[in-house]
Amino acid sequence: MSREGQPAAIQRQDYAPPAYWIDAVQLTFDLDPAKTRVLSKMQVRRNPQVAPQPLRLDGEELNLARVQVNGAGTSFKMEDGQLVLENLPGGHEPFELEIFTTCQPIKNTQLSGLYVSEGTFFTQCEAQGFRRITYFLDRPDVMATYSVLLRADKAAYPVLLSNGNLVESGELDDGRHFARWVDPHKKPSYLFALVAGKLVAREQKIKSRAGTEHLLQVWVRAGDLGKTEHAMNSLMASIAWDEARFNLPLDLERFMIVATSDFNMGAMENKGLNVFNTKYVLASQATATDVDFANIESVVGHEYFHNWTGNRVTCRDWFQLSLKEGLTVFRDQEFSMDMAGSPSARAVKRIEDVRVLRTVQFPEDAGPMAHPVRPDSYVEINNFYTVTIYEKGAEVVRMQHNLVGREGFARGMKLYFERHDGQAVTCDDFAAAMADANPGSELSRRLEHFKRWYSQAGTPRVKAVGQYDAAAQTYTLQLSQSCPATPGQADKQPFVIPVTLGLLGPQGAALPLQLQGEEQPGGTERTVVLHEAQQTLTFTHVAQPPVPSLLRAFSAPVVLECDYSDEDLLLLLAHDSDPFNRWEAGQRLLLRVAIESIAAPAGGTGAGAGFDQRLLPPAIVQALQGVLRHPQLDAAFKELVLSLPSEAYIAEQLDTVDPQRVHAVREALRLELATALQADWEWAFETHQDSGAYRPDPQSAGRRALAGAALSMLCLAAQAQGDSVWPGKAYQRFKSAGNMTDRFNALAALVTSGHELAAPALQRFHALFKGDALVIDKWFALQAATPDRAGDALPAVRALMQHPDFSLKNPNRARSVIFSYCNGNPGGFHRADGAGYAFWAEQVLQLDAINPQVAARLARSLDRWSKLAEPYRGAAREAIARVAGHAALSSDVREVVTRALAA
Ligand code: TRP
Ligand code: ZN
Repeated sequence: MSREGQPAAIQRQDYAPPAYWIDAVQLTFDLDPAKTRVLSKMQVRRNPQVAPQPLRLDGEELNLARVQVNGAGTSFKMEDGQLVLENLPGGHEPFELEIFTTCQPIKNTQLSGLYVSEGTFFTQCEAQGFRRITYFLDRPDVMATYSVLLRADKAAYPVLLSNGNLVESGELDDGRHFARWVDPHKKPSYLFALVAGKLVAREQKIKSRAGTEHLLQVWVRAGDLGKTEHAMNSLMASIAWDEARFNLPLDLERFMIVATSDFNMGAMENKGLNVFNTKYVLASQATATDVDFANIESVVGHEYFHNWTGNRVTCRDWFQLSLKEGLTVFRDQEFSMDMAGSPSARAVKRIEDVRVLRTVQFPEDAGPMAHPVRPDSYVEINNFYTVTIYEKGAEVVRMQHNLVGREGFARGMKLYFERHDGQAVTCDDFAAAMADANPGSELSRRLEHFKRWYSQAGTPRVKAVGQYDAAAQTYTLQLSQSCPATPGQADKQPFVIPVTLGLLGPQGAALPLQLQGEEQPGGTERTVVLHEAQQTLTFTHVAQPPVPSLLRAFSAPVVLECDYSDEDLLLLLAHDSDPFNRWEAGQRLLLRVAIESIAAPAGGTGAGAGFDQRLLPPAIVQALQGVLRHPQLDAAFKELVLSLPSEAYIAEQLDTVDPQRVHAVREALRLELATALQADWEWAFETHQDSGAYRPDPQSAGRRALAGAALSMLCLAAQAQGDSVWPGKAYQRFKSAGNMTDRFNALAALVTSGHELAAPALQRFHALFKGDALVIDKWFALQAATPDRAGDALPAVRALMQHPDFSLKNPNRARSVIFSYCNGNPGGFHRADGAGYAFWAEQVLQLDAINPQVAARLARSLDRWSKLAEPYRGAAREAIARVAGHAALSSDVREVVTRALAA
């Protein structure tokens, strides 16, 4: 329960099966925003495996009107917010439990349970929202069949939806109507959903490989129908992909997606009735960027893939969350890669995924909220929908995939469903199925050891030391691993770490690999498995000193330390056959320069403080120029290579962080790249224009991304040189662009370079798109993330919050301003006077009173406070303490700030 003192942590070890099963539920809703009446009839029986005890049902913010057992009144009591029934029929016969409650959807600003968004009813039940609708055993291992009768005013709520199949509908008195939905599949309560309101649908009939027909629907508000084509195409592609790659068909006659603009997260996989944030449904070339199009494809895929990984087989308890989320992220990543097609487009997707992992998950794993992929305890489960559960969880699945191979992984999935379809299971069950389906594989031989990835938090560090022996013609590679302590876990055991590697000759050729003891060389790439604290590999017949290319395609979620010279990295950047490591070599070169410049005494600490001398060695500039001008490389890949590591990623490499110094150095590097390659950026902009019809495919998106980056560099250089030609061109491009990607890139180039044309452009943009919430979110977000100039970022953010379009209650809007500033504008946020942190504290508290889930996300912004240099450190700590000292705090925010202060 929220806001009631210090809630106790829930321990994974305390898991006990439920004392009762609920096999079937009949729900009747009389929908009314002010007072919705919910009648729940449940078929309940004792769990014969558990000692007899009272039935304890979860409930939150409900008004209880009546409780009946087998049609007669019964005694009950309330205890810790639970409804406790002691005098239940004995024996193991099922009985009928009937509970009548009411709730107030219009007052539900948390967006968990039943709520109203723009006049339409929505539900969000994961993880524990169902208890805000009715009393229930609100835990994922209790699976029931649901029959749902919805009744509401027909004019206000013409569309009535729930899970499964529509079996009956019709008119009632007083202008009301009804619809009855029956879901043939058993499900846990967190997958329940209803939607009621004024919506319209794009429809599509499809046939499965087996010939069965299905109806697909994408439901939106009337004006948005024109923006649903891409979501529908993505859904059809997802269905076809899951059938083709994993033999997993759609198991429903009807599959629906509904969009809402008030949503705490991205989307939700309710059985047959996915509910989406509009951000991941609506797209047109005029209003959505290429990134939006790609995100829609991957989120639609993600939620659809949950239909098997999550819904058909679900989680026994919430500690197993990564069972469904890690696996489903892995599946959506593979889906996006398969859709992208070419090897280089696949590599681009991999680089993007790894970038998220390293800039967001690695810090989480090193900070106060660090937790294993399968956590051991939590206070508030909503706080554990983290990048560790999702992205690191996906890496743990990916390592299993790589250890058993693509075919082996498909076999493991098959066995997983043969064993567990219709069950609520654990991460152990998944790994066991993978291993058992692949006897003799590295995974099955080391299964218990491999599973430390589920139980130990922290990012392992792998150190590689190479030594060449010219006389013996051998190259020895010593690999060692360690893992830093995390809260509650001081000592770590070695992990099973697949290291995919190759060796490059002095001219960049891929060398044949022959390990000591092998008769002959075998291939130019291997995956070796590091499982001890330290292992040594000896390669023979190595004629010249090689350069190792390690952890190709990022074969494990670790930090790789290797003493590369600049020349080694330049060689890898120019020649590695692995595109990921090519990109990585460039990032290492740039990171090295950034870190050295940060440590160097000169340059001051203020934003833009003068770095008179050049920071980038000419060889690096030349190498980057070589990539930019390369005749074969993809534009998308070039754009990634030429992007500097983010401030967050740079900061993560430092023991003590002066955020203003990090910001100043990165800005200086950006300016240097802009001016040193000015002619090349001009070339890149001119030669990467698309004249044909807009298509969001990876190749054309890549061209637009590179052109956009070029324009931004050109505006930056122009601003420094007092020249207005390129800002003028950017303004023209902004006005005449035929799609949102080009238009927004031009706008961003003007705004971030600080040119005076930014103001009229912003004004024009708002006028053009007013009323289109998702575009206005972009407008807010861009301004809130605009680099600080003389302390103007915070006042600008406060001014944005006074704008008539701003609202704290709408999560997308709150994120577009507050999160963009606190998480996406480090130079503006980390102020020496601490005003950024004070603002953060103020907003966490404001939001907490409205929506604890969103507030707790914002509360994470200062997770890494203890790494900050003074005066930032002290000011940040003070701000966190101010939040923690607030009396009426949700358990969500309290857990985050309590853990932060313990760091
Ligand atoms: N299960 C959802 C997904 O990842 C996400 C989710 C979990 C969620 N809890 C939520 C979405 C609360 C909205 C609100 O696919
Ligand atoms: Zn998910």
